[in-house]
Amino acid sequence: VRILREAAELAPLLPTGVRRGVLLGPPEQWGSAWPEAERNPPALVGYLHYHRARKSGWELACMRRAAALAAPGHHAAQATFRDGGTEFDILDAFLVGCGQCESELPYGAIVALDAHCATLHYQHRDRDTSRRGQATNLLLDAGCSVRGYASDITRSYARQDGEFARMIADLDELQQALCAAVGPGVPFPDLHRRCHHDIARLLGAWDLVRMPPDEMVAAGVTAAFFPHGLGHLLGLQVHDVGGHLADDEGRILEPPADFPRLRFLRTLEPGQVVTIEPGVYFIDSLLERLRAGVHASAIDWDAIERLRRHGGIRIEDDVLVTADGSENLTRPLL
Ligand code: GLY
Ligand code: MN
Ligand code: MN
Repeated sequence: VRILREAAELAPLLPTGVRRGVLLGPPEQWGSAWPEAERNPPALVGYLHYHRARKSGWELACMRRAAALAAPGHHAAQATFRDGGTEFDILDAFLVGCGQCESELPYGAIVALDAHCATLHYQHRDRDTSRRGQATNLLLDAGCSVRGYASDITRSYARQDGEFARMIADLDELQQALCAAVGPGVPFPDLHRRCHHDIARLLGAWDLVRMPPDEMVAAGVTAAFFPHGLGHLLGLQVHDVGGHLADDEGRILEPPADFPRLRFLRTLEPGQVVTIEPGVYFIDSLLERLRAGVHASAIDWDAIERLRRHGGIRIEDDVLVTADGSENLTRPLL
């Protein structure tokens, strides 16, 4: 690796007689250097985007360290939640615990107490100390970055035993079964579809929805409680590129008809790192649509009203696809 401070320093480094060349990166940084070179040719960019899903040993070492850094942050954050800290206090505990400052994190940590858990990318970090100690549950979605490689980890905690704590435990069991189903040759949309059916069974077991699970999924009832994708590629970007590529020539995969907005569409291969992040949320706007729809009578609205104050649950691990299955990079640590 040679570090150049000016684009003009490139020319003397090029071997003589090179006829074709490519410059990759933000076009503005190259100025007029090497005018014959193609800049970000789509064929090469598509090739790199496709293949970067499979991590090298070095990349995996970075990602393991990113997971290992985040774990003490999550432990410290959980302790601060149990001590009654505000969202701001909990974020502070996460940063101190993992030893990264906020600008080093791969994404803005989501620290949500109670009803705030229903906002999927909640970033407010409430610091109102008048409500200290009153929160009943925490959703913490926070990872670290090592040499640009991310971890992306979510845990949900309840302060006390009871109905919501049992729901978290049930979703955790569901999430672990999905992690165990990760393996080479598995089309990710199939896992996403399975997750909807698993969540339908949970909604039934919790007596929130009285409908056969298949109908719940087909009618979009599960989508009102679980409105995002099951996971995504992870690497240099938190939502890493190339999730919709069919091959290294840039062909695009079509989303399945039953989940037309799904963005991670590839079949899993050894070396890929993906997140597995099912969730169940009580989101007012989606519940209102459900209440106005034809399946409203299948829903226990009293139970929903009781649970709305908890906002929701998400559990997220980073999982490496191996030659014969998978390795959960997060769970042994947290
Ligand atoms: N933290 C963003 C995500 O889970 O996708
Ligand atoms: Mn994620
Ligand atoms: Mn996340």
